[in-house]
Amino acid sequence: MRISFFLLFFALLHLTAVAQGVEVNFNNGRSMYNAWCGRCHGLDGKGIVEDLELEVPPPDLSDCSFNSREPRRDWKAVIAHGGEARGLSMSMPAWGEALTEKQIDLLIEYVKTFCPDRSWPQGELNFRRAQITVKAFPENEALLIPTYSHAETRSSTTKFVYEERIGPRGQWEVSLPFSSNHTTSVNALGDIEIAGKLLLFDDLPSLLLLSAGLEVGMPTGSASHGLGSGRWKFTPFLAAGKGWGPVFLQSSIKYEHPLKGTGSELLYSAAFTYPLTQEKKGLIPMVEFNGVSSLQEGNTTLYFTPQLYIGLVKRGHIALSVGTQFPVAGEKPFDYRIVAFLLWEYADGGLWW
Ligand code: HEC
Repeated sequence: MRISFFLLFFALLHLTAVAQGVEVNFNNGRSMYNAWCGRCHGLDGKGIVEDLELEVPPPDLSDCSFNSREPRRDWKAVIAHGGEARGLSMSMPAWGEALTEKQIDLLIEYVKTFCPDRSWPQGELNFRRAQITVKAFPENEALLIPTYSHAETRSSTTKFVYEERIGPRGQWEVSLPFSSNHTTSVNALGDIEIAGKLLLFDDLPSLLLLSAGLEVGMPTGSASHGLGSGRWKFTPFLAAGKGWGPVFLQSSIKYEHPLKGTGSELLYSAAFTYPLTQEKKGLIPMVEFNGVSSLQEGNTTLYFTPQLYIGLVKRGHIALSVGTQFPVAGEKPFDYRIVAFLLWEYADGGLWW
């Protein structure tokens, strides 16, 4: 039924194009776009078309932030199987029965030309977030990050993190932690952090990217209850990512420097990811190795953090990740730590659908 509806729809569009005297060149993205897609998306991709009555308005394909942030494979799925396949509106029809993969690729590359500004990094480089390793890609995300540390003193922290992109390559963020010391039953605000990040380098063919940034920690937590460090901290960092097809490696290094007193630390991490699916909804296992070296005392603790990233919705903008961090070498500040986050890419959809 859906196929015959689709064929009828396609035939009608084709007839309209022929009736208008438009000869469609099946080897040219622009020609195919103008004949079939422009009717809803507009010839300039802006989605402003007169007398178009759709349940959901088409997006502005010339908005660089929108145009750059989804990987081509997700657009490919939407164009081939229709909006519904990726949790979008059914008003975006499926073309997979009528067009070859190559023709869909040509269409995508043409749609990409609606944003001629190449400084926006492409969504293929937006690797899934790991627990500890800093993400190199600039994001529009809100996160809820609960952790529970099992040690002589049991404690838990819930952080709320808000991240927002600035222009094509920048991002700022704020992190509000609420901590509980379960032994003393003290609950309080921890050290608030603000951070900025800039993408220094990105290359789509080699799936490589590098960012640098600075975190500033403020002494808002109660140091006497063990829920804050009691001093300002400045933490410059580098974050990188490299993909090989669907598999990717992310790494970051931070130098944490307190403004007063001693206690500078080097924090380094690497996360290896092997997605079990190319769909946005599904399971993505990761393993992460983390290290913390105290520069004054010269001691180092190494951690191993296996984790599972779970895409909760077809559109992929809501995800959950859970893992456990184990100290494997050096001083052990805890026996184990349960780490988790709930992530919402708020620019791609609401939280409740
Ligand atoms: C009948 C109208 C219609 C036609 C024809 C149409 N589209 Fe769409 N398209 C839509 C709507 C509506 C959306 C937005 C769906 C949503 O956000 O829920 C959309 C979304 C998209 C998106 C964004 C997907 C995403 O991940 O957000 C792309 C890319 C796209 N269309 C490409 C095309 C191409 C290429 C063609 C031609 C082969 C085409 N569309 C034909 C209505 C249409």
